[in-house]
Amino acid sequence: MIDLDRVRQDTPTCFDQVFLDSAGSSLLPAPVLAEVNGHLRREQEVGGYRAQDERQADLEDGYRVAAEFFDCAPDEVAFAESATRAWQSALASVPFKAGDRVLVTEAEYGGNAVALLAYCVPLGVSVEVVPSDADGCLSIDRLRDMLDDRVKLVSLVHTPTNGGLVNPVAEAIAAVHETDALTLLDACQTGGQLPVHAAALDADFVSLTGRKWLRAPRGSGLLIVRGRAKGTRPPIIDHAWTDWTGLDEIDIPSSARVHEAWESSVATRLGLIRALRYAADLGIDTIAEAVQSRAEHLRTGLSALPGVRVHDLGRTKAGIVTFTVDGHTADEVKRYLVQRDITVTVSQLKATRYDMTRRGLTEVVRASPHYFVAPQQLDEFLTAVDALTSARS
Ligand SMILES: Cc1ncc(COP(=O)(O)O)c(C=O)c1O
Repeated sequence: MIDLDRVRQDTPTCFDQVFLDSAGSSLLPAPVLAEVNGHLRREQEVGGYRAQDERQADLEDGYRVAAEFFDCAPDEVAFAESATRAWQSALASVPFKAGDRVLVTEAEYGGNAVALLAYCVPLGVSVEVVPSDADGCLSIDRLRDMLDDRVKLVSLVHTPTNGGLVNPVAEAIAAVHETDALTLLDACQTGGQLPVHAAALDADFVSLTGRKWLRAPRGSGLLIVRGRAKGTRPPIIDHAWTDWTGLDEIDIPSSARVHEAWESSVATRLGLIRALRYAADLGIDTIAEAVQSRAEHLRTGLSALPGVRVHDLGRTKAGIVTFTVDGHTADEVKRYLVQRDITVTVSQLKATRYDMTRRGLTEVVRASPHYFVAPQQLDEFLTAVDALTSARS
């Protein structure tokens, strides 16, 4: 069970507000904030390069820390500036030719979809959506029907930005691997709240962000490159790990680090490594249990309120709770709650256009409680939504 007192003491700003936006950008635990601030201060004292030299061992150890957390090898880990940058670098590494196909789930994230449409379509590569089953999960049967030897990549969203759905990604990857296609798993909304075991899932690429459930600073992310994707690289590479060995010679690393940029925020990366250690120390199963029970409490409470509709799909559900309130726009609900120091956000049509269009939704309110939210704070939120609905009747 989560040690609520400890995690709340580590998050002093969670006392004066009801913070329900860890699917957006969470609150940093105190040790993570201290790591980031401490390194920025050190950069100011001795300059960025010397400050980095002093932390070289910790930066190197970060690959091991991330690999242990996500069940892969250290040389399969690349640090990135965001999940989207990581995802784009993976996409660009796939050797497409005209006539190839990319399959995506209905839960595909807007940032990924935009990159696919901008990059693949001009190459003559089609982007096709695999339908969902009756529960709203990616349909494994329909995926199998659509796979053929022209499919080069299957993009799988573990949990979407707009709801608690958990897609059956293990079954999907197994089905894809009956063909020669690669899998690209977007674990942006699961990394840090649910177990993501890259090797056990046999995922080829996995993209992750720091600022959400991992509680790392903004501007941090990860790409895991393994399995069939091992040895692939983007067409344009940075000199982070690639050596300029002769006038017209370069030495390119075979590891995932080929995806990294030389220039990046060292303070942010150290913050991400500290956040990974913090989550590992709590234990991902303990975190998952705490998050899921809080989300379930919200779903049950919201479903009981007249005029409130909960929109989460799926058989197993993660920590994202989405809902609408009759007679109020999502922005009105958000503003009403913010005035009461309750932080939620709005998920718009363009963030998950395939799914929202199919369901006839244009926007939903999103509440995403992390383990540091106290049970009575969940009830404060429910009471506030209840008051909003009662105000109309
Ligand atoms: C499912 C999903 N994928 C990808 C992203 C993009 O993450 P980032 O903003 O770190 O690039 C998000 C962000 O909300 C997301 O919810």
